[in-house]
Amino acid sequence: MVQIQIKDVKVKSTSKGDFEKHSFTVREMEIDDIAEVYQLGESNFKANLWPMLYRSWDEYEVTTLFNTDGDYCLVAENDDYEEGSKDPRIVGFVLGTVISKAGSAWSYGYVIWACTYTPWARAGIAGRLLDKLIETMVEHEGIRIIMADTDPENVPAVKFFTKKGFLEQKPHVYLSTNLETNPRYAHLIEKSRKANRLKLARKKSKNAARSKKRIK
Ligand SMILES: CC(C)(COP(=O)(O)OP(=O)(O)OC[C@H]1O[C@@H](n2cnc3c(N)ncnc32)[C@H](O)[C@@H]1OP(=O)(O)O)[C@@H](O)C(=O)NCCC(=O)NCCS
Repeated sequence: MVQIQIKDVKVKSTSKGDFEKHSFTVREMEIDDIAEVYQLGESNFKANLWPMLYRSWDEYEVTTLFNTDGDYCLVAENDDYEEGSKDPRIVGFVLGTVISKAGSAWSYGYVIWACTYTPWARAGIAGRLLDKLIETMVEHEGIRIIMADTDPENVPAVKFFTKKGFLEQKPHVYLSTNLETNPRYAHLIEKSRKANRLKLARKKSKNAARSKKRIK
């Protein structure tokens, strides 16, 4: 298994600008890390930054990627962690995948999620994780391009990927409509409501008939 130890990184510990020294190890995620990875993501991936449903953070996201893309699920483990210590055992992770397009000889890496425990931010954790992820993807599947996406207002993430040389930015527009108020589709909602009301009424009358039978 891949293991890279990074020693004595400086982490800002107070608003006065004091620093603490920490060490962490970058390695593949293991089954025992899943709950902590999920928890760390849960406290970082705020819904306002991922308003679209295709990107939602939940337990299945971690377990599914662990099963399908285990080689591309990496964590940073706090080397000084002890039971009851103030900082968690898992202080960062990156989850990725490789996309191969039918009919194309090219494979693309995709950084699906990247996250660092906030008090340890700017210590190079996500950077080390990303470097290792890319190295593994190149070695295993010969990727030549890697992509990442985030909300443009997520300044730390945009700056992070920019610093890592992700310089080709393509704007992407998400379009949505409320079907209930859209004259083209509102009738479908009304139809489905009517069908549901009918189903409910049928169920009620069936139940009533059954209880009548029982009374007799
Ligand atoms: C984006 C994120 C993963 C960066 O993690 P990190 O471990 O702090 O990143 P690193 O320490 O490796 O930062 C490398 C570089 O990225 C840039 N960067 C990272 N965070 C930044 C910030 N808040 N403001 C400005 N630049 C930042 C800097 O250039 C930094 O280098 P420097 O510290 O030498 O200036 C982290 O902020 C995070 O977890 N955010 C919440 C989750 C998220 O948005 N994930 C990304 C999309 S899935």
